Amino acid sequence: MSKVVIHGHTFKIKISAAEIHKAVSDVARQINIDLKDKKPLFLAVLNGSFMFASDLMKKVNVECEISFMKLASYEGTSSTGTIKQLIGINEDIKGRTVVIIEDIVDTGNTIENIAEQLKELGVSEIKIATLLFKPEAYTKTIPIEYTAIVVPNDFLVGYGLDYNGLGRNLADIYVLDYVADEKK
Ligand code: IMP
Ligand code: MG
Repeated sequence: MSKVVIHGHTFKIKISAAEIHKAVSDVARQINIDLKDKKPLFLAVLNGSFMFASDLMKKVNVECEISFMKLASYEGTSSTGTIKQLIGINEDIKGRTVVIIEDIVDTGNTIENIAEQLKELGVSEIKIATLLFKPEAYTKTIPIEYTAIVVPNDFLVGYGLDYNGLGRNLADIYVLDYVADEKK
């Protein structure tokens, strides 16, 4: 599928499933080297990161745990700036190496919020693994240790990312196609 229509807007393919899988493998390879003896806790941020987390974890071969937290900050196609916490952290994470798994780092509000909570809970080390990173939108200083794919500041859907709830199931990643929408 080279184009999809979601909520009346046309999206065109931007990153193929094959490209995604290669980039995810590269991140896993680096994690397998860096975190070999750290018994990390991977903390996947729902909903968006579920596909990335699943594919990444299948390629991670170090002794590790995985858990989930749920946050929401987006409405439509832009960040609201306020973050709602829907599922929190229940594990005893004091002294652990925690790897936050994100679908996309945009402004950085979400990862900053999570990183602050983790610090309060006494983790020894925080790393961030994100499928996508939008450097042009990033307003924070927290280093992003593992980025699979750097993207421009466009609105994307697919492979876990949604547009108002739809599109998460797409295997490829799509970008809004303004030109196709204007012709309608
Ligand atoms: P941030 O807090 O601004 O960094 O935004 C992070 C969250 O906003 C991500 O985890 C996504 O759930 C969502 N988000 C950011 N950019 C996009 C996008 O292009 N498409 C869909 N969701 C996005
Ligand atoms: Mg997310």
